[in-house]
Amino acid sequence: MSKKKIISVVGARPNFMKVAPLHRAFQKYYDTIEHLIVHTGQHYDFSMSDAFFKDLEMPKPSYFLGVGSGTHAEQTAKIMVEFEKVCKELKPDLVLVVGDVNSTVACSLTAVKLGIKVAHIEAGLRSFDRSMPEEINRIVTDSICNYCFVTEQSGVKNLINEGFHKNGIFFVGNTMIDSLDYALQKAKNSQIGNSLNLTSKEYVLVTLHRPTNVDEPERLDEFLRIFKHLSRYRKIIFPVHPRTRKNLKYFSLEKKIDEIPGLILLEPLGYIDFLSLMLDADFIMTDSGGIQEETTYLKIPCLTLRTTTERPVTIELGTNILVQPEESYIIKVINDMINLPRKVGNVPELWDGIASFRIADKIANLLARN
Ligand code: UD1
Repeated sequence: MSKKKIISVVGARPNFMKVAPLHRAFQKYYDTIEHLIVHTGQHYDFSMSDAFFKDLEMPKPSYFLGVGSGTHAEQTAKIMVEFEKVCKELKPDLVLVVGDVNSTVACSLTAVKLGIKVAHIEAGLRSFDRSMPEEINRIVTDSICNYCFVTEQSGVKNLINEGFHKNGIFFVGNTMIDSLDYALQKAKNSQIGNSLNLTSKEYVLVTLHRPTNVDEPERLDEFLRIFKHLSRYRKIIFPVHPRTRKNLKYFSLEKKIDEIPGLILLEPLGYIDFLSLMLDADFIMTDSGGIQEETTYLKIPCLTLRTTTERPVTIELGTNILVQPEESYIIKVINDMINLPRKVGNVPELWDGIASFRIADKIANLLARN
């Protein structure tokens, strides 16, 4: 009997840590399943892509589509055109997509239209804010895929409310936590903190890249004023996403950065080094999706600078606090973080480092039946 073929799609930075542990888990089914990785090339800089393959011990992708940047329509369309060629050549039994980036929705659409089954990992999350491109990607992907693998109970509820058939929903836990767990020891051995002369808990780690936070000059300027306030109490370590870097330059804000003592801007970091800096941070300020989950697992306080989150369990159970991105409010919450006792969190159900094995077992079972 020939092996069943699965293609896992990666495109942007947050995808790599979700697929790496799945690839390892599928090795258990080496005799019956061939697992291939296709990289769309949505992210292409070394620091946004290649560095992660090394850190996460992922094999080189079987196909690299090299689509690069563009408007949402251009990027999505280019991915579809290139991914269709790969699907026609490989004729996979299943396409596996993760997360909520443009590559996720583009490859799902391509596959279902060719009659290929699609499984979505990290399905069901909803911010209920349709101005976020990721929310549209989530809704569309879930509405057309065959199987939904879910990281938290809110996802199951959302999918049922949207009419997704119950026997296609699997609550399995979080593959990103599998990667984190796998890399923890390496992160503890990283020298990044030493090389930046940092001591534990003397700094706050910051990431910002959401269009709503970084695409308007006033908003970015507001963040710089907030950093100036925070720098009175803590160093600030800020690995800068390419989108944010471009805008800081375009809005001529670089000079203001130089005037903030203790604000250290870095290039985007690899997975292990970023994890290492998370481990020793006093707290984290971010607008990322995944970092909300990683900090909850590590029980590190996290201020999420957004009006909504699609990951409510990190608020209800974890260390995450949603902070309306408005200057006086953020400054008040920062002052509370510095002066008051912090929220104590718990780790959500099934975030135990073996979600990928549950997914691989379930998929092997589903494919054996078809
Ligand atoms: C994408 C995802 C977002 C995810 C983020 C993580 C979508 C809709 N958004 O946003 O959910 O949280 O990735 O990083 O898919 N660029 C580079 N080098 C790169 C990649 C991008 O310079 O390697 C530049 C592009 O030229 C573009 C900008 O960064 O101008 C944004 O890239 P894009 O992939 O469109 O979206 P992200 O903001 O990275």
